Amino acid sequence: MAEHVAVTTDEHGVATIRLDRAPVNALNPQVWSELGEAAITCSTDDGIAAVVLWGGPKVFAAGADIKAMNAMTFQELFASGGGLQEAVKALARIPKVMIAAINGYALGGGCELALTADFRYAADNAQLGQPEIKLGIIPGAGGTQRLTRLVGISKAKQMVYGGEFYAASDALAMGLVDEVLPPDEVYGAAVEAARGYAKGPFALRMAKKAIDEGVEMDLDSALRLETTLFTATFATDDRRIGMDSFVEHGPGQATFTRN
Ligand code: CAA
Repeated sequence: MAEHVAVTTDEHGVATIRLDRAPVNALNPQVWSELGEAAITCSTDDGIAAVVLWGGPKVFAAGADIKAMNAMTFQELFASGGGLQEAVKALARIPKVMIAAINGYALGGGCELALTADFRYAADNAQLGQPEIKLGIIPGAGGTQRLTRLVGISKAKQMVYGGEFYAASDALAMGLVDEVLPPDEVYGAAVEAARGYAKGPFALRMAKKAIDEGVEMDLDSALRLETTLFTATFATDDRRIGMDSFVEHGPGQATFTRN
């Protein structure tokens, strides 16, 4: 039974991965491992159609546990096999829409955790950043890569080289977050949006794969991937449901089965 990461699923098929390690949800090796298990649950449980990643009402996550890291030798860190990186990869690969709901700090590994989601909804008092440089290290869970792909090279360099904290409004302006909301509305808004995606067709999984994998390829290869997945949508029940519904009732009326 996980101690710091809980997965609960509501009646609409929306799972919440809730991080809970007081006081700041610092990510120690146990949390890395529990996050990896949560990612597997969300990926494989057919009852889960969309996911919200939340650190609770006070703080999303202040990053890797600096005290735990400080006590580690190079050999111990190396032997841990990039544990946080692996957990973060597993989260990024959940083949369902995931929204990060950010209250308070999302720093270092916490910001990198949020970057694994498709969308980030932030409280207007949230602060995001990659302050690792101030510890004499660099981001180690995707902060030099996912962040750069999201906000561009210059903004990522500014964040990583400077290590400053960014207000939610600044994060919105640079495309790091997608919505800024009053703190007590962030989680609810993320769940509501996830419920919308949970009603979507199986094709949402294919769209996510096409975008996330395609962006790593040269254009021709990515377009071939797109063609393959586009064609594959014709193997789904939802494609038939969607098109029949359009022909009979007009646009936007289909009720999908996610098959
Ligand atoms: N790891 C371990 N403990 C942490 C922590 C972290 N990342 N962040 C905060 N804490 C602890 C503090 O040491 C403090 O503990 P005590 O009460 O035992 O002293 C407690 O949480 C509360 O913190 P503060 O007293 O500092 O509270 P604050 O409100 O003044 O500041 C904060 C909060 C802005 C989050 C500040 O604590 C801070 O800057 N934390 C570090 C953020 C950081 O550098 N994150 C990057 C970590 S490295 C990383 O993530 C590597 C990677 O890419 C994988």
